[in-house]
Amino acid sequence: MAVLDILTLPDERLKRVSAPVERFDGELHAFLDDLEATRRAGPAAVGIAAPQVNRHQRILIVDVSSRRKTTHHGHLILINPEIVHWEGFETGREGCLSVPDYTGNVIRASHIQIKARDPDGNPLEFEMAGFEARAVQHEMDHLDGLLFIDRLVSRRTDLFRRKVYRRAGDGEATPEAG
Ligand code: NI
Repeated sequence: MAVLDILTLPDERLKRVSAPVERFDGELHAFLDDLEATRRAGPAAVGIAAPQVNRHQRILIVDVSSRRKTTHHGHLILINPEIVHWEGFETGREGCLSVPDYTGNVIRASHIQIKARDPDGNPLEFEMAGFEARAVQHEMDHLDGLLFIDRLVSRRTDLFRRKVYRRAGDGEATPEAG
């Protein structure tokens, strides 16, 4: 397993639209191990998407189980994810491994229903809400070349300089107190 380099703003490669995965093979599984090692390295993040490590395929990992008082589905590897239904809106604070110096307030759907594939190509379907839904929407944006800063209503009022990474669990899609 290897910890991969993370692309950070303003790297133009973060703006690429990722392609669907077509081969669910050993090479993919080895990459997923590396992606997970990268998610856990340094400031452990609740999520990571393949394009952040310069692999432009529709792959993400989300695990919000370290957060208290959050309903979740545990450790999720989602390949070719699609949102098939969404409901409601919520504003919350997000961070991103690719935007290490800032956090921001972002509006997301509060409930989503998604379809995806697992690492072997089997179909998955989940309904999710709250922070887990936010994390998945954040990571799915990476697959379309978008960062959370592209979704701020106002950079003046909704963008915040990050002081320090405080603990495991900070990082991607982190709502913070202030
Ligand atoms: Ni991110």
